[in-house]
Amino acid sequence: MIIVLLGPPGAGKGTQADKLAARLGIPKIATGDVLRAALREGTKRGLEAKAYMDRGDLVPDSVILGILQDVMTSPVTKKGAILDGAVRTVPQAEGLGVMLAEIGKKVDKVLLFDVDDDELVKRLSTRTVCEGCQTPYMGRDPGTSCEKCGGKLVRRKDDEPEAIRNRLEVYRRQTAPVIDWYRDQNQKVLKIDADAPVDEVTARAVKALGK
Ligand code: AP5
Repeated sequence: MIIVLLGPPGAGKGTQADKLAARLGIPKIATGDVLRAALREGTKRGLEAKAYMDRGDLVPDSVILGILQDVMTSPVTKKGAILDGAVRTVPQAEGLGVMLAEIGKKVDKVLLFDVDDDELVKRLSTRTVCEGCQTPYMGRDPGTSCEKCGGKLVRRKDDEPEAIRNRLEVYRRQTAPVIDWYRDQNQKVLKIDADAPVDEVTARAVKALGK
């Protein structure tokens, strides 16, 4: 099963992708995590993405479609994938559809996590993430350790106030149209009220998926 997760920055896509991956037994593919790993490794793709990411802008569609092509044709996604933030423009949604059709697959479900702006800003401005496994935390200071892998918790550069404002604006301008694009393709968009405790949001998502 291929599931696309949509929603503004801070809506909890990464948090819920981990939960759904464990529950459904299919891997989470987060383009943000792939790009940050590429940056840490100093690859051409990572270096190309850095300036866009630091400002909170989207990296070019060609870079994302290259990542999706690699991932969706890899044995890792044979049983499916939970695509976390991997589709943020209409050309990306179109490109993903074409590449999946070529390998006899399709997007099966689209989930939209809905949270209002005040809560998003609160979440992002207090978030730390593990430098190693990328797990996000609330209310944990930078420099403390990750519960999962022992890695160091850090603040993301794009969680500075100016970058947060830009990311929300970019979401409205470039990513929100993807919702209507899927609806126009007769693909149901399952909207989840994600302003609730994490486990409650997971339960809502699982119910919406019919699992
Ligand atoms: P990415 O890393 O994907 O960032 P994002 O979309 O801005 O999403 P976030 O990770 O900030 O939020 P999230 O919704 O995953 O929430 P989280 O679970 O962490 O992308 C970074 C950058 O990479 C982009 O800006 C862009 O430059 C580039 N990029 C990536 N993909 C791209 C693409 N397809 N096209 C172009 N460019 C791309 O939760 C947030 C916080 O809230 C955490 O602290 C968490 O603990 C907490 N939290 C989660 N759920 C709850 C809850 N229910 N209640 C209270 N707190 C909660």
